[in-house]
Amino acid sequence: MTEARKFQAIKGVRDILPPESSLWNRVEQVAREVMATFDFHEIRLPVFEETELFARSVGTSTDIVGKEMYTFSDADESSISLRPEATASVVRAYIEHGMQTLPGDVKLYYMGPMFRRERPQKGRYRQFYQIGAEVLTPAPKDVPDNFSRDAGIDADVIEMVLVFIERCGLVGHALYINSIGCRNCRPKYVELLRAELTKLKDKLGPDSQRRIETNPLRVLDSKVESEQAVIEALPRIGDHLCEACREHFKMLQAMLFMRQIAYEVNWRLVRGLDYYMRTTFEITAPGLGAQNAICGGGRYDGLVELLGGPPTKGIGFALGTDRLILALQEAGKGEAARPLDAYVAWMGASTYAVAVRVARTLRDAGFSVEMPHEEMKFKKSLGLAARLGARFAVILGDNEVAAGTCTVKRMADGTQQTIPERDLAGHLRA
Ligand code: HAM
Repeated sequence: MTEARKFQAIKGVRDILPPESSLWNRVEQVAREVMATFDFHEIRLPVFEETELFARSVGTSTDIVGKEMYTFSDADESSISLRPEATASVVRAYIEHGMQTLPGDVKLYYMGPMFRRERPQKGRYRQFYQIGAEVLTPAPKDVPDNFSRDAGIDADVIEMVLVFIERCGLVGHALYINSIGCRNCRPKYVELLRAELTKLKDKLGPDSQRRIETNPLRVLDSKVESEQAVIEALPRIGDHLCEACREHFKMLQAMLFMRQIAYEVNWRLVRGLDYYMRTTFEITAPGLGAQNAICGGGRYDGLVELLGGPPTKGIGFALGTDRLILALQEAGKGEAARPLDAYVAWMGASTYAVAVRVARTLRDAGFSVEMPHEEMKFKKSLGLAARLGARFAVILGDNEVAAGTCTVKRMADGTQQTIPERDLAGHLRA
């Protein structure tokens, strides 16, 4: 016989236990309600896809694709990856199901686990959860850009995330926005940045030095203390946007102002995924230390085409559920589990069947109910009811059963009342 062995969850992944799991449920429920009010509909996506899908959309030079994906070879030799994010899958599904023929903008939301092999720390896990949404809008080639419409969609998406996190009870968060230009203006800026960074190479650490070649924009993301002064003096993308991108960014700010949404422009907000263009944004929350970005998003016009679909505009975000939950807990908003409404304490051989019936009636009326399935002395039963945090104990002994009544004890103050069994649910509700 093999020897017994204890197992633990692997590094960077974790169990979410009660009572914390009820906070997760509440947050996900609020997300569903808020997104429905903005007319978003849920899409359920697979957790693994062809590796090539992520390589093409997120980009091969990004950390996510370059070193963080869980990739394996399937039995038929095809390369499969656990999803590191879901925008690529939404776009794949949009094209696969011909959703461009649907009326209006296609507005989808999703929630679920994502996988990135990052160095675990507070707020950073290898299996983490996102709540995200995407808006896809057909953009026929012969129709010119409509900046106020596009910026209006950007602002609506941002408004929706803010309504959601505020309804969860978070305060003290901050919204940062930026424009990272488009296919026309960004390459010129990236070359300028690369030339400047090359001159300053000696003042940069090894990671940033490497990025001068692979992805100079990512240098702007650097948190290395000694590089900050150098980075602050670099040319800023805002000064190098083309006319169209400048117009879009100006409209975005007007649209946020119209919605009375406070924001700050952060020219260094470039984000670590290749598909972005024009609008990028991030929301940070207090109390989280280094991993304080609870939400990231941006515009990705052209991604649908890159993945073989028709010309389409896109904008979306993903909120890190783990981090939102941490932020709520830090702020004292991590509500305890839903309390137990009633504990049915019974004694006497013929009483169990009545207790089962009473529990069923109360559950049908929407109450949470617990009961023992072996006979217990009332003292022991009531002690357990108190430890479980029950609001009421419903006491059933031979006398009650004979009279068709129950004794209801309010646990908070110990007051007791005798109630006909048929009135029990109404009594607890009152
Ligand atoms: P992202 O910035 O890579 O964007 O991730 C979005 C959010 O997911 C982050 O702001 C953070 O809260 C959370 N997150 C990321 N990695 C981890 C981790 N290892 N542990 C815990 N939380 C994490 C995207 O994923 C894009 N798909 C967002 C998007 C949708 N853009 C357009 N549409």
